[in-house]
Amino acid sequence: MTAPARFITLEGGEGAGKSTQARLLADALRARGLPVLLTREPGGAPGAEIVRNLLLSGDVDWSLPAETLLHFSARAEHVEKTIRPALAAGTWVVCDRFYDSTMVYQGFALGGDRAAIAVLASMIGLVPDLTLVLDVKVPTAVARMRARGTAADRYERLGEAFFTRVRAGFADIAAADPARCMVIDAEADAATVAARILADVEARLPPG
Ligand SMILES: Nc1ncnc2c1ncn2[C@@H]1O[C@H](COP(=O)(O)OP(=O)(O)OP(=O)(O)O)[C@@H](O)[C@H]1O
Ligand SMILES: [Mg+2]
Repeated sequence: MTAPARFITLEGGEGAGKSTQARLLADALRARGLPVLLTREPGGAPGAEIVRNLLLSGDVDWSLPAETLLHFSARAEHVEKTIRPALAAGTWVVCDRFYDSTMVYQGFALGGDRAAIAVLASMIGLVPDLTLVLDVKVPTAVARMRARGTAADRYERLGEAFFTRVRAGFADIAAADPARCMVIDAEADAATVAARILADVEARLPPG
């Protein structure tokens, strides 16, 4: 008997290695013969990509509630049009960021209404089977952003305190929901972190 398709999210601050590890995890699951959809937020469905552009184009300096609602609009489209159909078809879904990112950035780090964000998350109605919270120290994240050549300006603008709040927010979420979340020490090289993640995924979600 084959286990049902699973929904796995990767979370953590900028430069933690989410996109790198999401790709490596999708490759590893495919190598085990599983069908896998690799996707990321915001976006992942036609309407959600339109909302992504609204969020990221820089044309509007969105108010915090509007920004929060746009993230959830994109997410609702992504879940209804892409993620649920994939899971129903037996495809595993690996998603780079999901609602924990909204709770951490718009809630913990920017001071938005966390109770309201929790209600929006429950309205989405889809809970990940497993959330991997990639954790690195702030200087590691900054060094990786610099090496990648992006987002260093964001760091200069927001400052160390912001990134410290982001890290603490993810740690809080993981501590409050250990049945869903695993914190992954992501300081090591990418291959070592990938092996750690695969071992945890196999222990938590045996592919059958
Ligand atoms: N374990 C690692 N050790 C060293 N460098 C890494 C590691 N993982 C990723 N990197 C590098 O660090 C940079 C950031 O990684 P990545 O883009 O995967 O992070 P991210 O969490 O997706 O960031 P963002 O939130 O900004 O999208 C990339 O240049 C990547 O190649
Ligand atoms: Mg990324």
